[in-house]
Amino acid sequence: MRHTTFRQLEIFEAIARTGSFTRAADELHLTQPTVSMQMKKLAEYVGVPLIEQIGKKVHLTDAGRALAQASREVFGIMDRFAMVVAECQGLKKGRLRLTAITTASYVAPRLLGDFAQIYPDIEVALTVTNRERVLKNLGENISDLYILGQPPEEIDVVAQPFMENPLYVIAAPDHPLAGESRIPLTRLAKEPWLLREHGSGTRMAIERLFAKHGLEIQPRMELGSSEAIKQAILAGFGISALSHHALALNPPEQFAILDAEGFPIRRQWYAVYPAGREPSIVARAFLDFLLSHGKTYDAPSADLATKA
Ligand code: PGA
Repeated sequence: MRHTTFRQLEIFEAIARTGSFTRAADELHLTQPTVSMQMKKLAEYVGVPLIEQIGKKVHLTDAGRALAQASREVFGIMDRFAMVVAECQGLKKGRLRLTAITTASYVAPRLLGDFAQIYPDIEVALTVTNRERVLKNLGENISDLYILGQPPEEIDVVAQPFMENPLYVIAAPDHPLAGESRIPLTRLAKEPWLLREHGSGTRMAIERLFAKHGLEIQPRMELGSSEAIKQAILAGFGISALSHHALALNPPEQFAILDAEGFPIRRQWYAVYPAGREPSIVARAFLDFLLSHGKTYDAPSADLATKA
């Protein structure tokens, strides 16, 4: 192991994360032969195989997985060291790796944009993915901070709420229930529902509300994003409940917000990191930014507010 270089660990970590030699080479601006040669040397230094390639697929061996985890820890330590140095020089410089759950893509880029105005030298990488993947990244320590609509129960984390995230029932403007008051949940349960895929935090919150009242809703259609749900609502397939952030760019008259019992479901956006892991200086700066600025972003539009 003594001859292993940081560069080799960096290449190996990129392969482990992306599952591909080609993507790792692209990400690090290297040629594929360089990547292959460095991985061959690394396996020689370690003395056991780290990667198995079956067809085009890259699989990590047990030793490979352990080395991927060790590499992330080493880079985490070095990133923190680099930021301590930057801090000593009076600079807030460095890298922020953020993983945001699908629906948070409506808020995260705007927050990052404003953060970047204050700290233009901080390099930001944002991954947007579903809840299952967010939890996997959290377990593997891939990012510095995670944005979720509901903190995970299965992993020990520090979770800080920073912004309101209410879910409203949305229908097409000509829907028969539009304009009715206090629509009972029993009535709503009879509607055809458009739901996100299993594992979506939004879907979990909706199903939980109905289940609390002994009701179950039948999905008429499952769709993988809020955008697809909005299109299906307009096409007359049914109703759904969405984060009010998902409607931020739509004109208010495009959708009807139903005045339904139990809605809006009051939720929050949370910034999360693993318990026992001190966030880097950059991650801490972003967390402070979220906690001090988040509230200023969350005022629902006038139309939504009147229905709340
Ligand atoms: P989702 O999660 O995008 O997976 O629905 C968002 C949330 O939990 O609110």
